[in-house]
Amino acid sequence: MLTTMFRIALQLSLALFLVVPTITAGQAPAAKRPDAPQLAPYVPTPQEVVERMLTLAGVSKSDVVFDLGCGDGRIPITAAKKYGARGVGVDIDPQRIAEANANAKAAGVEHLVTFKLQDAMTTDVSGASVVTLYLLSASNLKLRPILTRQLKPDSRIVAHSFGMGDWTPEKADSFTDAEGRARMLFLYRADGQVRQ
Ligand SMILES: C[S@@+](CC[C@H](N)C(=O)[O-])C[C@H]1O[C@@H](n2cnc3c(N)ncnc32)[C@H](O)[C@@H]1O
Repeated sequence: MLTTMFRIALQLSLALFLVVPTITAGQAPAAKRPDAPQLAPYVPTPQEVVERMLTLAGVSKSDVVFDLGCGDGRIPITAAKKYGARGVGVDIDPQRIAEANANAKAAGVEHLVTFKLQDAMTTDVSGASVVTLYLLSASNLKLRPILTRQLKPDSRIVAHSFGMGDWTPEKADSFTDAEGRARMLFLYRADGQVRQ
C-alpha cells in the first residue's frame, strides 16, 4: 500500500516537474529563424529613399507591394499608408517580423499589410504587382529567374543599390540622400520573358 502511494506521489511530482516549466516558460514559443540562405544583412533603407523607391515604381492604391527581405516593414507600410496599397513583407529574422507587425499596427495599416517569417527564395510572388529589393547583387541574381517567371507582365521591380546583372533597367535613379550618401535605384518591368 505504502509502495503504491509512494509510486503515485513520485509520478505526480515527475509530471509536475516536466509540465510546469513548459507552462511558465512562455505563452507562445519564440519563432525560429528558418533554414534559409542569408541574402543580405539587415540595413534599413532610409525613409526618404523608401519614398523615392515607391515613386519610381509608380505605386498606387491598386498595387500589391512585396518586399523580399522586409526588415522592419517600412516599405510595405509606407506604400499602405501613403497610397493605400496592399503589401506583403517576408524576412528570415523573427525579430524583424515582430517589429514589422508592431510598426504596421502603430501606422494603422494592419488591414493592408502582412508580414511572414519566410525565405524570399521560396516566396510565391505571383500576387505582386511591385517587388522591392534591398539585397546583395548575387542575391538579386538568384531571385531574377524566380521573379521573371512568376511576375505578371507589367509588374515592376525596384532594387535599391544593387541591380539585376545584365538586365538593363527601364530607369535608374541616382541621387545623394539627406545624409550626403550616394544612392542608386533601379526600375525593371516584367515582360513575360524569363531571365536566368
Ligand atoms: C538590407 S536589409 C533590407 C530591409 C528592408 N527591405 C529595407 O529596405 O529597409 C535585408 C533584409 O533581408 C533579410 N534576409 C536575408 N536573407 C533573407 C532570406 N533568405 N529571405 C528573406 N529575408 C532575408 C535580412 O534579415 C534583412 O532584414
